[in-house]
Amino acid sequence: MLAWWQKAVFYQIYPRSFADSNGDGISDFPGMTARLDYLQDLGIDAVWLSPHYPSPQFDCGYDISDYEDVAPEYGTLDDFKRFLDEAHRRNIRVILDLVLNHTSHEHPWFLESRSSRDNPKRDWYIWRDGKDGGPPNNWYSIFGGSAWEYDPTTDQYYYHFFLKEQPDLNWRNPEVKKAMFDVVRFWLDMGVDGFRLDAVSTIFEDPEMPDHPVQFTQLDLYKALLALRGEEKERAAYLRAQREELFKYQRDMPEVHELMQELRSVVDEYPDRVLVGESDQIAFYGDGTNELHLVFNFPLMRTDRLTPAWVRANQRERLAALPPGAWPCNTLGNHDSPRVISHFGDGEHDAEWARICLALMLTLKGTPFLYYGEEIGMTDLPLQDIGQFRDMLGVRAYHAFVQEMGMSHEEALAIANQVGRDKCRTPMQWANAPNAGFSPAGVQTWLPVNPNYTQGVNVQDQLDDPDSLLNFYRRMLRLRRETPALIAGEYEPLHEDAEDYLAFLRHSEADGQTCLVVLNMSDRSHRLHFDLEATRARCLFSSRTREGTVDDLTELFIAPFEVYIAELTHRI
Ligand code: GLC
Repeated sequence: MLAWWQKAVFYQIYPRSFADSNGDGISDFPGMTARLDYLQDLGIDAVWLSPHYPSPQFDCGYDISDYEDVAPEYGTLDDFKRFLDEAHRRNIRVILDLVLNHTSHEHPWFLESRSSRDNPKRDWYIWRDGKDGGPPNNWYSIFGGSAWEYDPTTDQYYYHFFLKEQPDLNWRNPEVKKAMFDVVRFWLDMGVDGFRLDAVSTIFEDPEMPDHPVQFTQLDLYKALLALRGEEKERAAYLRAQREELFKYQRDMPEVHELMQELRSVVDEYPDRVLVGESDQIAFYGDGTNELHLVFNFPLMRTDRLTPAWVRANQRERLAALPPGAWPCNTLGNHDSPRVISHFGDGEHDAEWARICLALMLTLKGTPFLYYGEEIGMTDLPLQDIGQFRDMLGVRAYHAFVQEMGMSHEEALAIANQVGRDKCRTPMQWANAPNAGFSPAGVQTWLPVNPNYTQGVNVQDQLDDPDSLLNFYRRMLRLRRETPALIAGEYEPLHEDAEDYLAFLRHSEADGQTCLVVLNMSDRSHRLHFDLEATRARCLFSSRTREGTVDDLTELFIAPFEVYIAELTHRI
């Protein structure tokens, strides 16, 4: 028997950008609650909410100043509970974002910690003396600049892997663990269905704190973070490899696995909850039963072009590397990465690529995570003016490029748009109405609305159009729900040399069902030959008009960018 989170399709909501009910330009829980019918109708099973806690918003909510409350701009704790209950009433589960690595610098724990060297919470964060008039060592923050911030009140430095407004907690202090596990219980007691664990790899750092050996400029760091498009390939590979070296003392310390095991036992005290890890590391599955239930398959999305060969290689490696009992988890987009169409579209067949991407997510083995707005084909919105940026990562990169490199504002803006993540966090586009129906007319939304809502990229127009992307999502989500092999089946690649299309079987012994999936990721048609005589293929889904059943599946014609899914049975 599979658990709910193995069968579920997750949908990520960025709580600032989903639905604004009170006209302040920011989404809120009453607005999100009012849209639950939409989500139910879309056919998703669970929601992952990016942080909804009070926060001074230096990192768009990932800098939390109170873990047991709701940001006032999103509503009250009661509004949250109503959202949760209403979601549950529609059989939609809700998981929250849990940020363990750091708090906001405005969190009362940190305010206490920084107040004096002998404050009882001093050791809740990582404080060190400086060295030779500078920081304790040469570590970088992944968001740029030193990982150390000098605090004149106590004449010491504190450590931050992310922004200086996000001081790292000291997880070697048992009081920190206890306080955070209380937070976990607080939400589980309220009935939330689990957590997406933010930045798990960086929870511990090397206690010896040795200098890293890399000669890197600030600019190199930004380039390595991005592996900038247009950067010469070899140079990009070099920068990426150097980046691994650069942060080797700051992440993936072995203790984190003990911590995850403890966290898992806390969560296991509650029936049917799930932990999803934001990490590249398969190690976070533990032995497959004792750490996280799911770990994102990020390598799949780390490419500029999705090709059949890329997907096959990813599946081959990833599925083979999973420990027994571990369940895969796939995604192609989230609040940190470009939107699916902007990332994988070719500018010419974007509508087709949007469909291929969804079909891939819903037919590969594993739990899919979709990102809000993907279902209507929302695209990245590059910002025109640095004053519009809300993501400090973009803002700081911009200033670094202008000041250190003497780049022009236009060039720096272009890079800031690449590094920054505002572009994929713009308001949800509900209708062809002012502010895309997200906020009332005339309201200044927290990030600009993408003007392409007037060109059909909105929910209302697409609901009425049977051929829209939104209706494609609804059909495919329904199909997946009704087709056990697509959920539970083993993945078996076919035609492994095919350059243009991906073909595979999903076979579920327990359900007695086998499906054939063919995704043509090219603008060429193909005639496929199968060594599957006496096999009957009943077409379950095609992105083209296609009739019923083929006896003797020996040959199959696939149109450009076609998504074809059939149930195979033996002909007697
Ligand atoms: C994770 C989040 C990202 C955030 C960072 C620091 O990577 O996904 O948005 O900036 O953690 O909390």
